[in-house]
Amino acid sequence: MTTDTILELKAITKQYPGTLAVDHVDLSVQRGEVHAIVGENGAGKSTLIKMLSGAVSPTSGTIVFEGESYERLDPQQAITLGVAVIYQEFNLVPGLSIAANIFLGRESKRGWFLNDREAEQKAQKLIDEWEVGLDARTLVSDLSIAEQQIVEIIKAISQDVKLLIMDEPTASLTLDEVSTLFDLTRQLRGRGVTVIYISHRLEEIFELCERVTVLRDGHLVVTCDVAETTEPQLIRHMVGRELGDYPAKEPPGDEVLLAVRNLSDGHIFEEVSFDLHKGEILGMYALIGAGRTDVAMTLFGAKRRQAGEVWVQGKSVNISSPANAFDQGLGLVPEDRKGQGLVLLMRSSENMTLSTIQALSNRTFVNRKSEVGVVTRFQQKLKMQEHVPREQARNLSGGTQQKVVVAKVLAGDASIILFDEPTRGIDVGAKHEIYELMVQLCSEGRGILMISSEMPELLGMSDRILVMREGRLVGEFAREEATEEKLLTLAAGQEPVLA
Ligand SMILES: Nc1ncnc2c1ncn2[C@@H]1O[C@H](COP(=O)(O)OP(=O)(O)OP(=O)(O)O)[C@@H](O)[C@H]1O
Ligand SMILES: [Mg+2]
Repeated sequence: MTTDTILELKAITKQYPGTLAVDHVDLSVQRGEVHAIVGENGAGKSTLIKMLSGAVSPTSGTIVFEGESYERLDPQQAITLGVAVIYQEFNLVPGLSIAANIFLGRESKRGWFLNDREAEQKAQKLIDEWEVGLDARTLVSDLSIAEQQIVEIIKAISQDVKLLIMDEPTASLTLDEVSTLFDLTRQLRGRGVTVIYISHRLEEIFELCERVTVLRDGHLVVTCDVAETTEPQLIRHMVGRELGDYPAKEPPGDEVLLAVRNLSDGHIFEEVSFDLHKGEILGMYALIGAGRTDVAMTLFGAKRRQAGEVWVQGKSVNISSPANAFDQGLGLVPEDRKGQGLVLLMRSSENMTLSTIQALSNRTFVNRKSEVGVVTRFQQKLKMQEHVPREQARNLSGGTQQKVVVAKVLAGDASIILFDEPTRGIDVGAKHEIYELMVQLCSEGRGILMISSEMPELLGMSDRILVMREGRLVGEFAREEATEEKLLTLAAGQEPVLA
């Protein structure tokens, strides 16, 4: 690694009305390093990088990029300088091919027109050079999230990126996809590209990054070499205390709260049968795409069931809508929290773009006041900042939005709670609070179905773990017998094991 500094931030500050999001941060990034930024939800990570991409203007401070000083950058300028950001929400056009997306908006600037064929050839050449195994003619709408991310990166490469910034890129990726992304990142570093990497998965920082900066409440706490720190140390810098192990939990009772038999949606999953007991956390593991979210959505009445039977506390039920599910005592923390909940904190104009689940799950809330009340109630528990209850949802950091949805479901009196990726995007301190809340819910006699791709949390929290593969349940492990390897082998179908 060279010691030349590509980027230096001097006392960079962003003041929003009522929130000092980034407070006099001095940060220096070396050319060719992978530099991690970590911190709790709302610490200011995304705001910091938005000032680099030109999406947000600093209130004060200086950005020095390759020796030139700037008070602010505009988005076009950032691209020209070679700064590219991969956000969690993509900017690709779904109806266009990979090639068209890569060269979108750039044909005419060079004074000549790139036709489809040429664009395809050029894009394919880049794809082949970086060995990412895509066909440039594929429509972006046919790509997985991971593939879209790779297209974003190839697009950045085609624009001669010097500083590539990734904001929580792995939140929705499978293990395999994460490893492809890491390979690509290492290749980029090998060619002198500098990377800023934001993630709540601390193990990734140790795998991929050379240095790490910790932000807390908008302040820079420390920048250090990854080789010279440990996960507990980073956590202490982030949350200001040590975190214990997974909380201890009483074993479940015998009473069956939810019985599911031969449930099928006639499309993605079939013949799903299981029992959830009082006081039980039932884990469900599967690779992304195996249909586990569809199972949760069907149980919750947000998707139509084609066949099968469901009993809630011994009573046969026919759940036809989320409102109905709610009446039967079911709650859902959905995977797609962006498209969920938050209704009453939002502006009415934004309400119009809400998805159906959102609109339907509305029923859990009576009015804005009660929603604010819920946020206030869980504010401390889930470590939400002071200003959160007053803020419109869109001004909240990604992780804080998720906490609001979690709070909303926890505040209801559902006896059966379906959690789909309960801690995705949530900081390490709040994760532990959520685990403790789950144990508390169980001790109150409720039952939890926890769908998760985070193996440590599944292994640490579940009483039993169901494994799903290609739309079917293929096995079940008791807490004591489950290991990461067993889960993965079964979920990936490498061996036809039946536990
Ligand atoms: N447009 C905005 N208007 C007002 N406040 C904002 C706006 N955008 C962000 N904030 C506030 O600035 C603070 C920092 O938010 P930011 O999104 O940078 O956090 P983050 O570290 O990326 O968190 P997460 O891990 O949850 O993504 C938060 O308190 C947030 O509510
Ligand atoms: Mg963020």
